Amino acid sequence: MTSAPAPASGAAQAAPVAGAPHLLGPSFDSVTPVRQPAPAPAPAVRIDRVSKRFGAGPVVLDDVSLDIAPGEFVCLLGASGCGKSTLLNLIAGLDRPTAGRIDTPAEGSAVMFQESALMPWLTARRNVELALRLRGVPRGERREKALTLLEAVNLTDAAEKRPHELSGGMRQRVALARALAQDRPVLLMDEPFAALDAITRDLLHEELERVWRSTGRTIVFVTHNVREAARLGQRVVLMGSRPGRIVQEWTIAKTTGRRIESPEVAALSVEITDQLRKEIRRNAA
Ligand SMILES: Nc1ncnc2c1ncn2[C@@H]1O[C@H](COP(=O)(O)OP(=O)(O)OP(=O)(O)O)[C@@H](O)[C@H]1O
Ligand SMILES: [Mg+2]
Repeated sequence: MTSAPAPASGAAQAAPVAGAPHLLGPSFDSVTPVRQPAPAPAPAVRIDRVSKRFGAGPVVLDDVSLDIAPGEFVCLLGASGCGKSTLLNLIAGLDRPTAGRIDTPAEGSAVMFQESALMPWLTARRNVELALRLRGVPRGERREKALTLLEAVNLTDAAEKRPHELSGGMRQRVALARALAQDRPVLLMDEPFAALDAITRDLLHEELERVWRSTGRTIVFVTHNVREAARLGQRVVLMGSRPGRIVQEWTIAKTTGRRIESPEVAALSVEITDQLRKEIRRNAA
């Protein structure tokens, strides 16, 4: 953590001891110790009462608190302009909150945006190698590591192609391989698949899920696509607008075997959409 880890919000508080004096005096030693449940692990990301405004503009984020567990896959969902990217940028350390604090692992986060932002003159492999170089991986190891990462996103055959020779979906896969090359414990994704057609997006959901399960990364995935959030997240956090804040969240008990067309994804999407509509109506009022 960038700062001393605070106790997790769900951590057990000391239970009151029956009959114990209010102020523990000399009889302290005689108080029967209370068996405490194991404390919850420290969150990978802790967002603590964060607010944000840009200059003298309106409050964009208002008192947002959220703990994200190590290895958790959280989808941040909300209408356009509610502050999702602002929050993601704050987690990434690209900007500072106006109030509150954000704790993240000291190793930092990798960020993936809607646009792949690849170096156009470099092949897919060299784009990934560049991230490895920036991470300090020795020259002799970079090629093999880059190829392994490209294999992880099913892109072995395109390793020597330049971005303009790749489809949008392939470019986003290279961007994902590059983000993984940074080897950070937290992966922040801002609508990375929004510009893709539905079939390509489906495939990338499967690949992302596979990568997530095999690497144990903590993922914060921003989207305004309800189905995508219900398909991918272990937890879906709905944000409301003006000012941006957390309205509701859903925890998904069984995340294996989900597909975008699964009945449980559809049912959850209906429920989330209802809430989202209420939020949008509330804002329009
Ligand atoms: N650098 C900035 N300066 C001033 N205002 C900003 C800045 N960045 C974002 N905002 C404002 O903050 C609000 C939230 O923007 P943000 O980009 O976080 O929304 P979003 O939820 O990501 O929307 P979308 O789904 O359209 O990407 C908007 O009103 C936007 O105009
Ligand atoms: Mg955004």
